[in-house]
Order: sequence, then structure tokens, then C-alpha cells
Amino acid sequence: MVFAKDIMIEAIDINKEYRRAGAIIRALVDINLRVKSGEFVIVQGPTGCGKSTLLNVLSGLDLPDSGRVIFDGENIARATEDRLSKIRRQKIGFVFQDYNLVNSLTAIENIEALLWPTVLSNKEIENRSIAALRDVNLLERKDHHPVQLSGGEKQRVGLARAIIHRPRVILADEPTGNLDPESETHVMELLKKINKDTETTVIVVTHRTHLNKYADKIIKMDKGRIIKIE
Ligand SMILES: Nc1ncnc2c1ncn2[C@@H]1O[C@H](COP(=O)(O)OP(=O)(O)O)[C@@H](O)[C@H]1O
Ligand SMILES: [Mg+2]
Repeated sequence: MVFAKDIMIEAIDINKEYRRAGAIIRALVDINLRVKSGEFVIVQGPTGCGKSTLLNVLSGLDLPDSGRVIFDGENIARATEDRLSKIRRQKIGFVFQDYNLVNSLTAIENIEALLWPTVLSNKEIENRSIAALRDVNLLERKDHHPVQLSGGEKQRVGLARAIIHRPRVILADEPTGNLDPESETHVMELLKKINKDTETTVIVVTHRTHLNKYADKIIKMDKGRIIKIE
């Protein structure tokens, strides 16, 4: 299918440095990559190699010093802050290592909150949130608060929140970093299922090599560079 081969994200000659106490840290060095629509990509490498910086640059949360990022056909290195936040709100679902749930809200409220402001009716918001919770096998926990949930359950709420607005891309930075092996498998299997069922592009950042089996493509980084794509 031609559509599935479309390029979703392209990074061209990206460089980014941080300066700290007189020292220069080359966080991203001559990065070139392409992520196809519907692809499941793992970005892999040791702590400090630039994985999070790369993810932030690909989503426009951070700007490169040089180079271009084409996200869904649009050069986001040139976009205004307004445009960038709209792209993130509409096209990207974020998953965080520490879940980033609001403790005062229930599971379903955490998910619904992502849709605001919205033109959807209350009924539609509820229907979508219930469907998302069902997708991550967590409907029976819908009225629980984060403190009542295990790490794996919290991350499944995080996944439901990441898909509620039907994004084109899911970006997950060490999504299983705080999870036990069983919960890790559950979360990865769910990500893979979402990827397959909805053709959502998924990029998972991790230093754990045993997760490689989930990927269509593995981008290996070291010291700010891509050292291998396989
Ligand atoms: N805001 C920042 N200021 C200074 N240095 C930073 C900043 N963010 C990241 N770095 C440095 O850039 C390098 C890459 O960091 P990061 O992308 O977080 O790596 P990873 O996610 O692979 O662990 C590291 O050396 C880190 O210390
Ligand atoms: Mg990181």
C-alpha cells in the first residue's frame, strides 16, 4: 500500500549542543533519519547518548542548532510556538517514564483531560475514553486514582491518554523504565497492538536491548550520533 510507505518524520543534518560550565556537550551530531508512516521504531543507546534530546527535537519540544525536521510534511524547525503546540496536541501522543498522571484525577478523568478544549460532546468524550481504557485492558479501574494503581496500570492509563485524540505518532521515552518485567511486556504488547491496529507510527526510546524484538527498525545511538540503523 503506497500510503503506508509515506514518510512521517524526517530529520536532516540535525546538530544540537549544550553548553554547561564552559564545556560543550554535543547531544546530537549529524543526525539523519526517516520514520515511515505506520512504522514501529526503537531508538536505542546508553544513558546520555542523546535519545531524549532526539525525541524532543523530533516533536518540536526542543529546537536543533542546525538542520531540519520534517514532521508530516511540515518543517517544524521553522514553525511558530503556536503551530508547534497545535501539532503536538493534534498529531502526537506522548508517553512518559514516570507516567505524568494528575493524582487528583481518576484514570478516566486523566484521559478525558487531554481532549480539552474540544468541540466533542460530553457523551463522545466519555465514549472515547471508555474505548481507550478498554483498549488497554483497564476499564474496571476507570474510577481509581493514580495512587490506587500499580506502575503497570498507571502506564496503561498513560497509553490510553496517548491515543485518545487519535494521533499520527506516539512518542514514548523509556515507557517501561519504572516497570517490572511482566508489566513491561504488557505495555510493549499494547503499544505494538495499537501500532498494528491503527497504523499509528510509534517511536520508543529505551536503553533496554531485550525490547528490540518489538521494532520494525532499530536506530542505535552513541555519543550523540546514530551508529547503526537496522
Ligand atoms: N538541558 C540540558 N542542559 C545541558 N546538558 C544537557 C541537557 N539535556 C541533556 N543534556 C546532555 O546531553 C546529553 C544527552 O542527553 P539525553 O538526550 O538526555 O540522553 P539520553 O536520553 O540518551 O539519556 C547528555 O550528556 C546530557 O547530560
Ligand atoms: Mg533520556
